[in-house]
Order: sequence, then structure tokens, then C-alpha cells
Amino acid sequence: MKSVCRPEARFWRSLGCRSPVFNAPMAGFTGPEVAPRIEEAGAGMVILGGYPGDREAYEASKRIAARGREEFVVPPEDLPSELSSVDVRVPVLVNVRFTSPEGAEELCPDLADIVDGVEINAHCRQREMVEVGGGEALMNEPEKLCEIIDVVASHVGVVSVKLRGPHPSYEDVVSELSTHGGVDFVHVDAMKPGEPTYDLRYVRLAREAGLRVVGNNSVRTPEDVVAMFDAGASAVSVGRPLLEGRWDLLGELSEFAVGRFWKAGE
Ligand SMILES: Cc1cc2nc3c(=O)[nH]c(=O)nc-3n(C[C@H](O)[C@H](O)[C@H](O)COP(=O)(O)O)c2cc1C
Repeated sequence: MKSVCRPEARFWRSLGCRSPVFNAPMAGFTGPEVAPRIEEAGAGMVILGGYPGDREAYEASKRIAARGREEFVVPPEDLPSELSSVDVRVPVLVNVRFTSPEGAEELCPDLADIVDGVEINAHCRQREMVEVGGGEALMNEPEKLCEIIDVVASHVGVVSVKLRGPHPSYEDVVSELSTHGGVDFVHVDAMKPGEPTYDLRYVRLAREAGLRVVGNNSVRTPEDVVAMFDAGASAVSVGRPLLEGRWDLLGELSEFAVGRFWKAGE
């Protein structure tokens, strides 16, 4: 095992993760009822959502759903009770679309006892969400993103930020996040636009900035896991195959990653 992975493996284990392979959140799909399926399949952590985190994001979610896209249209005040039925032993994160620190301040105290952490969504590019200042729009407003991070971190145990690699502000945002602090890890969608693969530069940039990275996009094989880890990720996530029922992938990649990166050399 590469020495760089040891403290990282310790971090994930300290959260209660049994592998460094997680599901990627997918709105309208990764809800409470899917959590046991993700755990049974072998994922090290369950990431639910994305859910609207405040009134503006909720109204935007309604507009997105109205044009036929799958969404979790849950009013923010109902989110804690929506998530309270989740019953798994692995850690649970919830991916949330906030448009302001005030919204986060209202919701997060009620989430603190229900989930292990919150993943701030700076990734969603649906027009309605971006128009109200949520999702990807936060990548253009690093100051607001940092204020949201501060609020979330003051209430919940684990803070992640989901970032979209090929965003013009990506490099500035990772640099800002690394100096600001308060983020336990970044979940990097390293998509390569127009190609069904990843661009490892985004993982490298975040790692070189000193951030702990969950590498995401098109991770489908043990070779993909190795490529992500070699680029600096210490965990990976899998999304779209789950929509097609490929639960086995979570177990297969978990077994590989634990054997290769956690057990070797111990
Ligand atoms: C239907 C669908 C819904 C998604 N919803 C969200 C979301 O709510 N929050 C988020 O951060 N990412 C969301 N994503 C992005 C995924 O988490 C992931 O970054 C992307 O699918 C690439 O990973 P994959 O190649 O393993 O699917 C969504 C993706 C899909 C396909």
C-alpha cells in the first residue's frame, strides 16, 4: 500500500466506513428506501439526495420536477423526518442544495442527529437551481460557499462539498476551500465533457491543494479505482450503474479497494 493512503484509510475507518467505495447521490433515486440496498451491496458509506435545503431551492426543485426530471421535492422542514427512517450501520451523508447560509442555519441543527454528515451541493447544473444561486452557482461565489460550509460545520459532524470538475472556477474553488478549512473532503465529479470517462486532472488539483478527495465519474472497474487513487483520491463513488440495477459493482469495487488499499502491508 502506498504510504499516502494510510492516514487516509484511517480517516474513512474512523467515520465507520468499511470500504472506500460509496454510492454517488442521484436526485429522485437515492432516497431513504434505497439506503439498505446500498449498504447490503457493500458500499462503505451511503450518500442520499440531493435534496433542496431551503425555500428557494425547494421552489426550484418543484420547477425542475414540473418539466419531468426526477427530483426529491421535499420541503426543507420535512427533510429531517424524511431521513429519520434510514436504518443502516454505515455512515450516512445527505447531499443538499443550499442557496444561502441562512437556509443552512435553519436546516442543519435538525439534521445533526439524523445523519452523519452533509454534502453541500455545488454541482447541480439544472437551470432552475442555478438561477436561484444553488448547485453549480456556488462555484462562482466561493465566499458564499465558505459561509455555508461554516454554518454546516458548526452543526454536523462531517462536511463534504460536491464539485463539478470542468467548471471554469474549479481550480480557484479548490484553492479557496483548502485555505478556508471546515471541509472534511471534496467529492469531485471529474467528468470529461463529451466522453464517457474521467479527467484525472481534477482529482490531482484537489489533492495537490491538500484536500481529501472522493473521486467520481465513470468509475466502473478496479483499474478505474487504481487510476483515481493514483491521482490522489482516497475513496471513489459510483452513480449511474445503480440506476440500471448494477448493485454488484459496489461490492466488487469495495472488495478490490479494501484488499488493495486498506489491507496490503498491514
Ligand atoms: C439522475 C441523476 C441525478 C443526479 N443527482 C445528483 C444530485 O442530486 N446531487 C449530486 O451531487 N449529484 C447528482 N448527480 C451526479 C452523480 O452524483 C455523479 O456525479 C455522476 O452521475 C457521475 O458519476 P457516475 O459516472 O458514477 O454516474 C446525479 C446524476 C444522475 C445521473
